[in-house]
Amino acid sequence: MSAADTSAPPRGMPSAEIARPHTTETPTLVRLYVWDLPLRFSHWNIALSFLVLAVTGLYIGKPFGPPSGAASPNFMMGWVKTVHFYASIIFSVSVLARIIWMFRGNRYARWHELIPVTKRRFIGIFKTIFFYTLIFRKPPASLGHNPLAGASYTAVFGMYLAMIVTGVALYAPTAAPHSPLHPFTFLLPLLGGASTIRWVHHAVMWGLALFSVSHMATALLTSLVEANGEFDSIFSGCKEMTPEELREVREGEALDDANAWHLRARWPWRKRSA
Ligand code: HEM
Ligand code: HEM
Repeated sequence: MSAADTSAPPRGMPSAEIARPHTTETPTLVRLYVWDLPLRFSHWNIALSFLVLAVTGLYIGKPFGPPSGAASPNFMMGWVKTVHFYASIIFSVSVLARIIWMFRGNRYARWHELIPVTKRRFIGIFKTIFFYTLIFRKPPASLGHNPLAGASYTAVFGMYLAMIVTGVALYAPTAAPHSPLHPFTFLLPLLGGASTIRWVHHAVMWGLALFSVSHMATALLTSLVEANGEFDSIFSGCKEMTPEELREVREGEALDDANAWHLRARWPWRKRSA
């Protein structure tokens, strides 16, 4: 490697051009709009409400800190539960809206970006693991979620739904008789009773907390190693790549489209052209 390879990039150079590590030539990068507004909006609603739900939930499970003494004068637990329940409304509505958007949004917001339904995306999961474990030099070309991230989000959405169902099961018996959640009282005995459901609600919270930490770390790492604006993309909606990488992505997407049974299937919600 020449001395020029290791020298620091000149100050003031646009980040898109200095971002590629270990190269002397400045690559031309194409900027592409990937994450549409509803995806980004639901992402941040879910992420922020999750933070509030985790902190208030931990307090509900094992109250910590001041105040001590009788509950009635300060109503601390009451306030924490109120915040938990309002945050759970934001969380549940955002998750349901995002699930609906999986059938209406742009290509990168669709459900098949999460569930690996084509052979190429399925194999891509292993290729990405080999990249992360330093066996492969390059990850498989992708513009939306990489195949491993997509598959892990399927599990994450499963955990979101588990939190909503167990949360509603815990809430319903205490809901006012006219509340729309009151009819869900049947969930409590059906799912094994209050203590089992509280345990599951608590355990899945830790599953999501673990995911969040590794998710933020990988978003940052991918952004640095692949230099594609990954971390910023969930704010701006845009990613960057070289024209060669984009060509590779488009070829892969065309292959997916040609082999995708879900594009040929007769879905009841999709109109067919005559
Ligand atoms: C990711 C989202 C959520 C997280 C992280 C979360 C977290 C928690 C935690 C840690 C607890 C304490 C469990 C224990 O140790 O006993 C709790 C309790 C509870 N959560 Fe959630 N929760 C979430 C979503 C929801 C939702 C959507 C609802 C729906 C209404 C809900 C309703 C409840 C109820 C009713 C309790 C029990 C309160 C009580 O014991 O009186 N939660 N939550
Ligand atoms: C500083 C905090 C966070 C940052 C910077 C961040 C960044 C990102 C980025 C860059 C993506 C797109 C990744 C890709 O290409 O696959 C993404 C997607 C996603 N993130 Fe985060 N994230 C954060 C917090 C969270 C938290 C706390 C959660 C969950 C509790 C979460 C759940 C998800 C999910 C489920 C997706 C898939 C999006 C979808 O298809 O709707 N994120 N995030």
